[in-house]
This record gives sequence, structure tokens and C-alpha cells, in this order.
Amino acid sequence: YPDYERIRALGPVVTSRLGLRLTAAHRLCVEVLRDHTRFGTMPVSDLYPTDLGLRHDGAHAFVHPIEDSFLALNPPEHGRLRRLVAPLFGPRALRGHLPMIESVVAGHLDRVAESPRFDLIGEFAARVPIGVIAALLGVPESEREDFLRWGGVVAAALDGVRSPAQLRRMRAVLTQLAEFCAELVAHRGRHPGDDVVSLLVAATPDRPALARKDLFATVQLLLLAGFETTVNLIGNAVRLLLADERARRDFVSDPDSAEDLAEEVLRYQPPIHYTIRVTREPVELGGVPLPAATPLVVLLAAANRDPEVFAEPNRFQPDRANAREHLAFSSGAHYCLGAGLARLEGALALRALFQRLPGLRAAGPVRNRPSRNVRGPLVMPVAPR
Ligand code: HEM
Repeated sequence: YPDYERIRALGPVVTSRLGLRLTAAHRLCVEVLRDHTRFGTMPVSDLYPTDLGLRHDGAHAFVHPIEDSFLALNPPEHGRLRRLVAPLFGPRALRGHLPMIESVVAGHLDRVAESPRFDLIGEFAARVPIGVIAALLGVPESEREDFLRWGGVVAAALDGVRSPAQLRRMRAVLTQLAEFCAELVAHRGRHPGDDVVSLLVAATPDRPALARKDLFATVQLLLLAGFETTVNLIGNAVRLLLADERARRDFVSDPDSAEDLAEEVLRYQPPIHYTIRVTREPVELGGVPLPAATPLVVLLAAANRDPEVFAEPNRFQPDRANAREHLAFSSGAHYCLGAGLARLEGALALRALFQRLPGLRAAGPVRNRPSRNVRGPLVMPVAPR
């Protein structure tokens, strides 16, 4: 965060030593994220300097979980795919998922509540989102345990590619992910249920069947987005509460404030720190001219601490009135499709955890995720009382 303050002090659009353009201003981040004519998405292959070897090989449709998904598309193509899945994550669908999410949370709490010490991330914060997304996508019960273990591997591998060994690991994991999705799609094609994959597989009069490539990319995106992010919302929230006696006391005495708490955690320590856009034409941003095809790092986490929008931005204040103006879920056409689900899962998990274990305390050093973009604890030993 001190780096973000330095960037903000330097000006609205700053050029880093590596030549990257960055903006920390909330106003400009919103302008960039909402203007799809002047700013487009960044091809994933440009983000990773090395070829992942995951492009279509001609023999079978090998789909990159992000590059081929609607997260990487610009309007209007983006909307065509997003519209198909959006209702499955809307408020009505979420109300229907409430009992399932509560039971996933309660099941994992049962497992840890009696241990003298457990890893809050590996045994709770990561398990809840993986369990929920598995249920939503219709992963059969018999494969849930494998899916849980395997979810952790994907999460670790996607933290960044910095060495050939990591690249090999990521390729192996993404290959597994692709195979898993192919099996899931085939299984749900044969045995349809009321899950998201079955709905996407079946064409209806008002919804044409998805092309196979789009279907795979969408399922993989949902799986990854489901594992990778909400774990950090829960982890960051617990870490903040364990370090702030007053915030924790307030929360334990008013568990219904869980939504507000989650919102302020998303502002103060967002799981995703930045996203990238590329200029589609020569533009002027905050008075700074940028040529066409300039990549721009949109610092969501810095925007969340912009004093022009948030009073005393560096103070964690769960009853903050305008916390919802944060950009943790981005903005514009790519605004997080799972935002409602993540808010619900985060609030339910935090409420249940502190109601069941009000005396929860830290029980060892926290290890952080190594990624610069995806932020949260990787290991967090705690004791239930
Ligand atoms: C997009 C954050 C949870 C599904 C995004 C973006 C952000 C984000 C920042 C936009 C990236 C950009 O503008 O380039 C988060 C955070 C979460 C979370 C912080 C948890 C706290 C979820 C969950 C799901 C999900 C649980 C659903 C399974 C998606 C999808 C997109 C997306 C499908 C692509 C939207 C589009 O391109 O139209 N998320 N996400 N997210 N997220 Fe989330």
C-alpha cells in the first residue's frame, strides 16, 4: 500500500521503471473500466511472456481458461456469452442456493471446531468456495474430495509464472482442469441436473447451444473464479478481525453486520489487486496522452484507498457508509459475475465461524500467497479457543 501512495502522489497516470503505465485514481480506474470503446481487455498471452503451450493444437479444442472466456472478450461479443450465464448468478438464483451454502459452511465448521488447532485457510476458507462452486457446477458427490484437493493445486499454480518449473506445473494443472471440465460436461450431458453445467449444456428455444469451445471456457472460468478469490475474502477478514480486538468484539456482538464487514474487507484488502486494459486508439487519460495499444494497469486496491472517495482510507472501519464504492469487483461490462455469490458466501462463512468459535485466536505465523495480484493468507494457523 505504501507503493500505491507513492504512485498516487506522482500523478494520475504514472509510468513505472519497466515502462508500464499505472493509475491509482479511483475516478480514472472507473473511467477506464467503463469505457469499452477506448479501452479493451489484455490478451492473456501478452501477460505471460512465455508461451504456455496451451493454444489450440488442431486435434482437439484446447481451451485456455481465461483467454478463451468472456473475461477476455470485449463488447459486444462479451455480452453474448455473459448473458447466457448471468441469470444463473442473479439474486433469484442466489436465494435458492442459500441452504446449500449454509450447509457447506456448517459441514466444514463441524470438521474443524473440535481440533485444538487448524489451518484457517486450508481447512475452512478455501474449502467453502470450492464446495459451493462444486455444488453449483454439479460436480458429482463421489468426486468432491478429489476436487477439493485438486482445487488447492490449481490455486497455487495460478499465482504467477516466474520460472520454467512453475510454467510446467501450471501447464500440467491447466491440462488437468481442461480434462476435468470435459468429463464434467460429458457427465452432465448424459445425466442432467439443475446445476449450471447442465443448464449450459442443454439448448432451449430461447437459448441456443453453446459452441463447445465457449462452453469449456465458461465452465473453466467459473471454476477458477470460484476457487481463487473468495478464499482470500474470508482469509483477509479473519486475519483483520484477529488483529483488531474492537472490530472482532463488535462483530461477535452483532453477527448481522457480516455483510458490512465483508464489504469493508473487500475495500481495505481486496483479493484481486489489479486488472489490465489496453488502449484501442490514441487516448488522453487524466490529461496524459497514451498512444494506441498501450497497456494500463488499473490498480483496484489503490483506488479502494483513494482519499477523494474514502475518508481516512487507511483505517479499517467495518461500519463505513460508502464501502460499496470499492472496485474489488471491478466495474463496467466485466464487473464480477460472482459478486453476489462471493458476498453471500463471505458473509455466511464469517457469521457462522465467529458465532460457533467466538474465542478463535491466532496460533502461529501466517504465510501469505506469493502473488502480487491475488492477495491473502496461504496458511493461517488458528486455535478455536
Ligand atoms: C470477474 C473479483 C468471486 C466469477 C471479476 C473481476 C474481478 C473479480 C476484479 C473483473 C476483472 C476485470 O475487470 O478485468 C472477484 C472477487 C471475488 C470474486 C474479489 C471474491 C471475493 C467470484 C466468484 C465467481 C466469479 C465466486 C463465480 C463463480 C467471475 C466471472 C468474471 C469475474 C465469471 C468475468 C466477468 C466478465 O468478464 O464479464 N471478478 N471475483 N467471481 N468474476 Fe469474480
